[in-house]
Amino acid sequence: MEDLRIGVIGLGLRASLARAAHRPGAGAAVTALCDTDPAVLKHQAGVFDAAYVTEDHRRLLDRDDLDAVILMTPDDTHERIAIDCLEAGKAVYVEKPLAITVEGCDAILRAARRTGTRLYVGHNMRHMGVVRLMREAIRRGDIGEPKTVWVRHFVSYGGDYYFKDWHADRTRTTGLLLQKAAHDLDVIHWLAGGYTSRVSAFGDLMLYGDLPRREPGTPRPEGWLREYDWPPTARRDLHHVVDVEDVSVMNMRLDNGVIAAYQQCHFTPDYVRNYTVIGTEGRLENFGDGPGDTVKVWNTGPTGYRGDADVAYRVPDAQGGHGGADTEIITEFLRFVREGGATDTSPVAARMSVAAGYQATMSLRDGGTPYDVPPLDPELVAYFEAGQTRES
Ligand SMILES: NC(=O)c1ccc[n+]([C@@H]2O[C@H](COP(=O)([O-])OP(=O)(O)OC[C@H]3O[C@@H](n4cnc5c(N)ncnc54)[C@H](O)[C@@H]3O)[C@@H](O)[C@H]2O)c1
Repeated sequence: MEDLRIGVIGLGLRASLARAAHRPGAGAAVTALCDTDPAVLKHQAGVFDAAYVTEDHRRLLDRDDLDAVILMTPDDTHERIAIDCLEAGKAVYVEKPLAITVEGCDAILRAARRTGTRLYVGHNMRHMGVVRLMREAIRRGDIGEPKTVWVRHFVSYGGDYYFKDWHADRTRTTGLLLQKAAHDLDVIHWLAGGYTSRVSAFGDLMLYGDLPRREPGTPRPEGWLREYDWPPTARRDLHHVVDVEDVSVMNMRLDNGVIAAYQQCHFTPDYVRNYTVIGTEGRLENFGDGPGDTVKVWNTGPTGYRGDADVAYRVPDAQGGHGGADTEIITEFLRFVREGGATDTSPVAARMSVAAGYQATMSLRDGGTPYDVPPLDPELVAYFEAGQTRES
């Protein structure tokens, strides 16, 4: 089997995913690189030994020796570059979130259908052991029919990851209830078996609005993501624009009647996601979200609290970034590029998670007023559900 030849656009923090895709002699090799930052390009060229490097993604897309592209630029650039990839006939992995608006997502999905080029969206949480374990338990009927999902997301590194660069600027992301929550909104949809149809949210910039910022055009600070300040109010060198919320809470009604809640805070001491799913015959909850952690199921009762639960499942061991999810999702993407067919991630679901996060952001900036989530064009739904074949 010849290696697939992969071009990578955007080689910042997420370059780790390109390293997961670089498997020379084992199915895929990264052979072309693009980044608008010449210093990044120079550094990464050495890492991959790539034959071709460019600062202009259109020149990379002109090449006829690439089988697929991995797109990992900042969120606000996804729409333009993803459409360029699709129009150039290059199968593309677009990092989540698919885009920063509902219209942006729909434009990408339409371009995929128009061109017939394969589109894959990097919702790697669908390949995380803890998520798959919870989904299997639900599908097995461990808790009956799921009726309500409650998710709390504690983002301890929030001030460093999300408030020291473009993530903090709503013109680049819309907000963190889209940027960050797109992952969990997608998982809520996957676990509950429906898509959000109506949202209401509250949120505020409670802590990072008043901390010292850097001058425009200055790089992220020396020691970024190596040294951390505590308490969070000691953080400094924030991005020159900080206008996204650092606390947000969101309620949603899904199209199958499920009611869900999602809460996110960017100044907690510890980092973890905590899911509770309650069904007609029990509930489950995860304690820790990585390999070796636990998902507990209670499905007898009623009783008082029982810490030992009825069943405790161990999240399996895994290698690689994001609890093994990065290796798994790249394996799925490479298979999809070669063979097409069904995948655990879904462009339609990616659009629906952005749509829920986008409308929730509109709601929280409008005093919590409920907002409906616009449905996706049924013809696009049909195209993707049929496996991205043009005959559909
Ligand atoms: N799935 C996940 O778990 C996960 C984790 C982290 C980031 N992400 C996503 O990955 C993407 C990248 O995030 P990051 O943290 O690596 O960002 P980053 O800012 O660290 O890196 C982005 C890189 O893209 C380059 N770039 C910007 N515009 C470009 C353009 N037009 N053409 C080519 N290169 C361009 C920048 O120079 C930079 O090197 C984002 O969409 C983010 O949401 C996903």
